[in-house]
Amino acid sequence: MNVIEVKGLVKKFGSFRAVDNISFEVDSGEFFGFLGPNGAGKTTTINILTTLLKPTEGRALVAGHDVSREKHKVRKSIGIVFQEGSLDDSLTAFEHLKFHGVFYDVPKKVYRARIEELLEIVGLEDRRNSLVKTFSGGMRRRLEIARGLIHRPRVLFLDEPTLGLDVQTRILVWDYIRSLGQREDVTIFLTTHNMEEAEFADRIAVIDHGNIIALDTPANLKKLVGKDIVMVQTAHNAQAKKEIKERWNVEAKEIDEHLVLEIENGPEFTPVLVRELSVAVEAISTRGVTLEDVFLHLTGRSIRDEGRDPESGFQRKLKIGR
Ligand SMILES: Nc1ncnc2c1ncn2[C@@H]1O[C@H](COP(=O)(O)OP(=O)(O)OP(=O)(O)O)[C@@H](O)[C@H]1O
Ligand SMILES: [Mg+2]
Repeated sequence: MNVIEVKGLVKKFGSFRAVDNISFEVDSGEFFGFLGPNGAGKTTTINILTTLLKPTEGRALVAGHDVSREKHKVRKSIGIVFQEGSLDDSLTAFEHLKFHGVFYDVPKKVYRARIEELLEIVGLEDRRNSLVKTFSGGMRRRLEIARGLIHRPRVLFLDEPTLGLDVQTRILVWDYIRSLGQREDVTIFLTTHNMEEAEFADRIAVIDHGNIIALDTPANLKKLVGKDIVMVQTAHNAQAKKEIKERWNVEAKEIDEHLVLEIENGPEFTPVLVRELSVAVEAISTRGVTLEDVFLHLTGRSIRDEGRDPESGFQRKLKIGR
């Protein structure tokens, strides 16, 4: 049964189409990933589905309710974890959860038990009475996730839930999110521009410039690309690219100072390439396909090169400094 149904959804800001006619469905219990670079339209879509923003055109149903006409019913059916944190430093973990329960009209007995359950799930039992201002980024995120679940929503929306967390905390938060589907019987709708994160979704919609450019399981998306990826760096990439096209009829993509090739059998191909190119090969490697390659394959661009991501910005600076 579909718990989310979106048809012909458009959101314009002035004449700019931030969401440009998207349609998709999410099945009950599914872990659905919405993957795209900065500015692709992920948060805008979530804001529409959670009734915070009015669509310009099109229709969306969440838990069977229309997001434009039945806002209240939609809101009762969903939990939200925002991209920007939304906790109050001067409250304790317990107070946050309690206020949320009261706000959603959850009977006291029910929310009391529920708070215990959720504090345990997100590993914050010991910190129940600590002020949020003493929490680390990861603890804050986990508390926000618990809060989003107090009223047993059918769908939990998570907008970049691990943004800004260090790698270890990210993995920890990620483990909680992954186990939620099983423990809580909740449909998860998650946005991210982190490829590794998206790998865990049942299905992924790849969104770019407000359009869904692919929607499938991670495994099927990777099949779009083929088998292996060969990355090669040569003394003269433009010349190498030309030769690769002429000799093997493979379209190499230039990303930073590398050529990226989609190849059936990478390990077999690399020595042949090194031998037969007229230009010197400075570095070469082969690996399996990732979702990053899928995005590159579909758009011709790298998802990480899109600008505002602090990590990619850092990478760029390092390159310039070299
Ligand atoms: N209120 C607004 N007014 C004008 N433009 C907006 C508004 N909100 C978003 N946009 C624009 O719409 C586009 C999509 O923004 P959105 O926040 O949905 O992207 P996103 O995919 O969530 O990106 P990120 O990964 O950076 O969070 C961007 O170009 C953004 O600048
Ligand atoms: Mg966003």
